[in-house]
Amino acid sequence: MRSVTRVKAAIGAAVVALTVGIAGGAGVIAQSDDSDDRERVRESGRQSDRDVERRVDRLLSRMTLQEKLEQVTLLPDFKVNSPEGEESVRNGLGAVLSETRPERIRELQEMAVEESRLGIPLLFAFDTIHGFRTVFPIPLGTGASFDPEMAFDDAKYGARESAAVGLKQTYAPMVDVSHEPRWGRIAEAAGEDPYLNSVMGVARVKGTQGRDYGDEDKLVASPKHLVAYGEPEAGRDYATTDLSEQRLRNLYLPPFKAAIAAGADTAMCSFNAINGVPGCGNHYTMTEILKREWGFDGFIESDWTAVAELRSCPPQNPSDVPECGHGVAADGPASAALAFNSGVDSEMTTTFMRDFGSQLISQGRVSTSRLNDAVRRILRVKFRAGLFENPYAPYQPEETEEQMLRPDAVAAARRAAVRSMVLLKNEGSVLPLDKSKNTAVIGPLAKNQHDMLGPWWGRGDDNDVVTVFDGIDEQNTGTTTFAEGCQLSNGEVPFDQDPDPKDRDPEGCTTIDTAAVNTAVAGADQVVLALGEAREMSGEANVRSKLDLPGRQEELIQAVKASGKPFAVVLFSGRPLGLEDIVDDSPAILEAWFPGVQAGPAVADVVFGQVNPGGKLPVSFPYRVGQVPIYYNHEAAGRPCNKSIKWNSQHRDIPSCDPLFEFGHGLSYTTFDISGLTLSSSSVSRHGSVTASVNVTNTGSTHKGDEVVQLYINDPVASISQPVRRLRGFERVTLDPGQSDRVSFRLDSSDYGFYDNRGRFVVEPGRIDVYVGNSSSAEMKQSFTVR
Ligand code: BGC
Repeated sequence: MRSVTRVKAAIGAAVVALTVGIAGGAGVIAQSDDSDDRERVRESGRQSDRDVERRVDRLLSRMTLQEKLEQVTLLPDFKVNSPEGEESVRNGLGAVLSETRPERIRELQEMAVEESRLGIPLLFAFDTIHGFRTVFPIPLGTGASFDPEMAFDDAKYGARESAAVGLKQTYAPMVDVSHEPRWGRIAEAAGEDPYLNSVMGVARVKGTQGRDYGDEDKLVASPKHLVAYGEPEAGRDYATTDLSEQRLRNLYLPPFKAAIAAGADTAMCSFNAINGVPGCGNHYTMTEILKREWGFDGFIESDWTAVAELRSCPPQNPSDVPECGHGVAADGPASAALAFNSGVDSEMTTTFMRDFGSQLISQGRVSTSRLNDAVRRILRVKFRAGLFENPYAPYQPEETEEQMLRPDAVAAARRAAVRSMVLLKNEGSVLPLDKSKNTAVIGPLAKNQHDMLGPWWGRGDDNDVVTVFDGIDEQNTGTTTFAEGCQLSNGEVPFDQDPDPKDRDPEGCTTIDTAAVNTAVAGADQVVLALGEAREMSGEANVRSKLDLPGRQEELIQAVKASGKPFAVVLFSGRPLGLEDIVDDSPAILEAWFPGVQAGPAVADVVFGQVNPGGKLPVSFPYRVGQVPIYYNHEAAGRPCNKSIKWNSQHRDIPSCDPLFEFGHGLSYTTFDISGLTLSSSSVSRHGSVTASVNVTNTGSTHKGDEVVQLYINDPVASISQPVRRLRGFERVTLDPGQSDRVSFRLDSSDYGFYDNRGRFVVEPGRIDVYVGNSSSAEMKQSFTVR
């Protein structure tokens, strides 16, 4: 047996892990050789900015009021591509979003640089969320890898492809912690835990920006959405959230803080209100916390039309711009003043800050120094991005296509897809299947390119996707048969084809072709069922009130089960599903999320056992929607759930206090033992640290595999009720059969301290319980005392 000791220090460990490269479990996939990022990240830290500040001051002093107001304006493609839009560019427009055609980007940049008075370059931005053309798994899936290197690679290749067309900013990472699976945007971040989101967010910032986002293959990152956008009431996108100070600071802000500390130089304020204060009108979160407390010197852009939405409805001044709603401002000028004064530096899509800016300044409602501060922040980022030296894309427009889908990026996407898969259930070791046997691939997602890309597919093209069927057929030496069984709906809200709401079919799969299924299964020895959601069912403004498999898909499971053949269900989804109706009938369930362009090869790698699945759930899977919100890191209650007595916190019609599959859960084709938890000390001062160490062994005899060792803490006696568990460390290790490893985690006050309801970070004396294992229900425990 071999034993290695590694030490991890808080979130820094994630970065250390990705700089040195984590032992990989995906043996068949070649690692990229493009690894100078690792070096750069190691040296991370910006060069002196003094020169930049001098240049910003000089330029600012030459700008007219109107030029400054153009600079705080951010127009989408459809607005900039108009005579008024071009005029705005010539007047000194600040930035453009969603224009991704390289020739048009070049034209617009030429207009800005050569035809505007001061020649300030435009900043081109886009939502490169999980890949630009080489689409990676959705971020919730990457979260399930518990491997920050996957998030790093996703961001790195996304930045390279985006920068090739002339983009210089991405509206990512999305780091919104969420306990709300009905909300379609849970797909876009790393799930329900602030620590996991912090680690993944940091990795994405590093992958996007490298050491210097002025480099030609890098972008500036923009963590979003500040803040607590992930808990809209009833899961309805954009709905309000009422939030305690301690939750704001303990749950929702940490990933933003980590991303900013990692160097993210822009940020986006959110649509939603917390405690009645909309994100883009919130002085506390944008100015007091982000800019002052954390020392953020980059700029904040509003989310799409969020400035106009500060107004009450019906919209006033201007009344021909429809957006309105929050009711914290009377009209356009009041919205612009509120946005400016609370800390917005750049207005997306609407132009109130520009259009009413000079009026507001002359009336004294916005100060010149606030406007100058906003412009200074934008120019600072443009200088740091190297735009004044290199305003154009590194390639001629006709050369950009060959920068897309390069083999290293595609290999990384496959590796990320494989490592994001979570084996939820594997009764009787149905999986892995035998690739020499005849295999039927059944279901609406089996021969499907479109849905595999998931929501926010960047400039991904359905034609780039290798389907599950093709991936399996490629590796299967027996015959491969197929039946679709039913069709999911790819309808987009508001389902224009069915204008009567009663007739809406948001799910599809209403008719099952049992005969075709039976035919495909008849000649097969084993079956893979590819089931789940369509990609339109998650992402922005795509909220479900049910969490089960859409349509009648469970009937496909029944049909296959009736054949008596061994089968596995592979699930594709943008959220945790409620699997109550299918879990008992399905011997094996593999959650594959939306895996991206390499869906088919990745599924085949796992299903045939080329690679052993090692992902873990980044979010709890409930029995059914009525349990929502259900999350592992809930605060303790006076009457904790106990199914054996009545008067406590439980659902009478659900047999368990727990979710169906808990946070951190995930099986393997081998077995692991995690034991021998030791602490370096039984007590620690508030400035000290303690190291927890544990042995992990692959106790199986055939399969190499990955285990994610997870460390949770609980503070059982504190001035405010603490979460029953809090993840504070994890490490994904790869072990051969019989091999052991020793994993260590360093804990300090940043782990066992917490924010109270006055926003103070407190470290209280007393006992801290440490749990280590392979899911959030880990039971192995040791304790230490904070003196
Ligand atoms: C979304 C943002 C996105 C922006 C620009 C908004 O609707 O909320 O996440 O970055 O659009 O596309």
